[in-house]
Amino acid sequence: MAGTGDGEWVFMATGRSPTNIAVIKYWGKRDEALILPVNDSISVTLDPDHLSATTTVAVSPSFSSDRMWLNGNEISLSGGRFQSCLREIRKRARDVEDEKKGIKIKKEDWEKLHVHIASYNNFPTAAGLASSAAGFACLVFTLGKLMNVKEDYGELSSIARQGSGSACRSIYGGFVKWCMGKNHDGSDSIAVQLADEAHWNDLVIIIAVVSSKQKETSSTSGMRDSVETSPLLQYRAQTIVPNRVLKMEEAIKSRNFESFARIISLVEKWNHSEGTPQVAYTFDAGPNAVLVAPNRKNAALLLQKLIYYFPPQDNDLSSYMVGDKSILSDAGLNSIEDVEALPAPAEMKTLNQKFKGDVSYFICSRLGAGPKVVTDESLALLDPVAGLPKGV
Ligand code: ADE
Repeated sequence: MAGTGDGEWVFMATGRSPTNIAVIKYWGKRDEALILPVNDSISVTLDPDHLSATTTVAVSPSFSSDRMWLNGNEISLSGGRFQSCLREIRKRARDVEDEKKGIKIKKEDWEKLHVHIASYNNFPTAAGLASSAAGFACLVFTLGKLMNVKEDYGELSSIARQGSGSACRSIYGGFVKWCMGKNHDGSDSIAVQLADEAHWNDLVIIIAVVSSKQKETSSTSGMRDSVETSPLLQYRAQTIVPNRVLKMEEAIKSRNFESFARIISLVEKWNHSEGTPQVAYTFDAGPNAVLVAPNRKNAALLLQKLIYYFPPQDNDLSSYMVGDKSILSDAGLNSIEDVEALPAPAEMKTLNQKFKGDVSYFICSRLGAGPKVVTDESLALLDPVAGLPKGV
């Protein structure tokens, strides 16, 4: 190990990883410690500009322990999930040399060196928007870059899986399948990319954030209860899902929205009144609805209907839409007056109530790419000299 005066140098890397939304859900583990699922699952990766985790990892001989800060607050790294990811990446660490900074780290040094990690989510943490998926994918990807790990993305996905199951799918962009695998050690429980984000890039995803509060029931305990008490869960995993996975793979391959939407269910009334699916919906382990439109035109029509029933509490339209705000003007909604002038959706004649305040805000996103290194050093979350969160 060598540097510009031992103990003085800090070497770091920053990465950004997207979140993902499952269209065939992961629900139920067959091994809790290794996080092995009872069924395959399929997801879409969202645009990291809208929903992602950014993580800076730093190493220095001056650090006396592994430490982590999440959204500015220090959190414990003692949990098994963090420990598994750190251990598995450290095991695969290689020699690193940064000639410009005069830093040389030998493979065998990594076991003795401590890391500092700072992570930030650009969307609500633990509200059922898969923040831990983005977070653990980012942690594994960025630690891998820092420690010059050469393993392929399949291997990285299996390490990220040990942090949070669905994190393995955030290692890729586009459409991703997590293959449950059969091996007891989990070595074949990895994610694969079905198609990249360019394959079907006119899909628009709108998330109605009903609550950005922490979930009352964690996915882990919800899954455990299902596995222990539901006779239907095994039936779903063994009989229903394998067939649906095949159909979903086919729908993605042929960009067949009708089939894609039928599988994840319909936004009942609109779709029924039109005769063919206009929009699809899905829920993750939280109350927020995720709506998928086949194109911007349908997304804009959908938004008109949503905002008619769920107008913003404080009349502020601009902060009511996060992510791709331009969908508002596509829907002709440039001011609160436009919202007030919206006609009642024809197909919802029986519903004459509005639900002001029930939706906190909407997020408009699209398919996105997998994890990326952030090369702009000014965007690092740790100070390059002290290796502590900036501003602390
Ligand atoms: N859990 C939720 N968000 C996270 C993040 N960004 N990193 C690690 N764990 C997380």
